Formats: sequence, C-alpha cells, structure tokens
Amino acid sequence: MDSINVFKGYGKVSLEQPNPPPPNHLHRRRRFIVASLAVFLTLAIGSLIAVLICESATESDKPEPSSQLASNSAASLKIVCAVTRYPETCFSAISPLNSPPSNSPLRFFNLSLHAGAAQVSSLISLANETKAEAAVKDCAELFDDAASQLARSAESISVGSSSSGEKVLTEMRISDLQTWISAAMTDQETCVDGLEEMGSTAVDEFKVRVQKSQEYMSNSLAILNNIHSLFAKFGLTMP
Ligand SMILES: *[C@@H]1O[C@H](CO)[C@@H](O)[C@H](O)[C@H]1NC(C)=O
Ligand SMILES: *[C@@H]1O[C@H](CO)[C@@H](O)[C@H](O)[C@H]1NC(C)=O
Repeated sequence: MDSINVFKGYGKVSLEQPNPPPPNHLHRRRRFIVASLAVFLTLAIGSLIAVLICESATESDKPEPSSQLASNSAASLKIVCAVTRYPETCFSAISPLNSPPSNSPLRFFNLSLHAGAAQVSSLISLANETKAEAAVKDCAELFDDAASQLARSAESISVGSSSSGEKVLTEMRISDLQTWISAAMTDQETCVDGLEEMGSTAVDEFKVRVQKSQEYMSNSLAILNNIHSLFAKFGLTMP
C-alpha cells in the first residue's frame, strides 16, 4: 500500500509541475540521450557480468594453487610430511602440537624437533628406571646428549626471530641443524649397538623405542633438507 502511494505521490508531483512541453527538437535530443545512456549502461553491465563469469570460471578451472592449500593447516602438514620417510609418524606426531594451526614449514620443523625431544625424554626415563646394567647406564648418557642436541637445535631457530630482522634459516644454520640432529641419531644408534654387544636383557625394549625416536628425527631431517622447496611450494618466503 505504502509503495503504491509513494508512486502515486511522485506521479502527482510530476503532473503538477508547471513544466511547459519542450520544443520538439529538444525533446527528441533528450530522448536520444536517454536511449544512448540506456544502451551504454546495458553494455557496461553486460561486460562486467561477462568478466565476472569468465573470472570465476577460470578460477574453478585452475588447479588449486598451493598457497590456497597452505591455508588449510592439516593439508599443509600432509604436504610437509610427504617429504619424510615416515609420513604417518610425522603427521601423528606433529598434528597434536599444531595449535594454533600453522602453515609455516619452519613451525612444522620446530614442532617435529619438540616431538623428537619428547621421545628422547621418555627414553631417558626408561634408561633411568633400568639403570642396573652398565650398558643401560651408557644409554642414559647418550640419550642425555641427544636431548642436548635437540634442545640446541630448537634454541637456534628461536634466536634468529623475524623481529630482530635476522634471517633464521641461513645456510650456516641449516648445516648446523643437520649436524646436531644427525648427532642425536648417532647417540641413539650407539646405545642400541652397546646393548647388543653387551647382550643386555633390555635390548629388545630399547630397540623398539629407539626405532620410533629415530623415525621422528629422520623426519625432522627430511623437513629440514626440503625446507627451501616447501617454502616455495607454499608461496612463502624463507624466514
Ligand atoms: C635420570 O637420572 C639422572 C641422573 O641419575 C637425573 O639427573 C635425571 O633427572 C633423570 N631423568 C629422568 C627423566 O628421570
Ligand atoms: C617451537 O615450538 C615450541 C613449542 O610449541 C614453542 O614454545 C617455541 O616458541 C617454538 N619456536 C619457534 C621458533 O617457533
């Protein structure tokens, strides 16, 4: 009802306006202008719609760009873990630590170091509980060294924070990290070798737990070795 009244009102206003009929040629010119304006607007809107349709079509045709994939943290983590030898271990170790969700390969590397450090911690506890044998005592020391190597690694990537403007992943640092993680793996290997040589009764238990811990560290190394290509894949610049 209201809208009808409004229209009626406008109609009345225009009728009541003391508008003398314009001369004929002016009238025709005005009509021409209105008509061209209408044509112009139609064309403009039409081409705008065409462009939009075209754009959305190419958008959906294109394969998903990796930067878009990287916006989903779990998908990003899958891509990162795919470079490792034990992708399932990698995913299940890192995803519970991935909070708040991240898509930075450096953050995933950091979390993988922390997951490995937790494995080493539990190995230290196991060795402490089983300390009776000399070989196990050696293992406790080796695990302690492995823990230091991992702690040093995690510390080294925290030091060069982006706020200081210092580059985190310099070639030098990457090389140090490779050295330290490899040293931690060697420590664990040496432990198992020692237990085997001494015919320790604890060897089987340690073998299984050390193997798991080695997988974590192998994954950390793989992420590190592929860090350039992972950053490139996600369209991110190396910190
Ligand atoms: C293991 O034992 C060492 C020395 O006996 C001790 O310093 C360390 O805190 C213990 N660690 C764990 C996890 O039990
Ligand atoms: C690495 O992860 C730990 C544990 O989540 C966190 O406390 C630390 O700040 C992280 N370091 C970097 C450099 O992201």
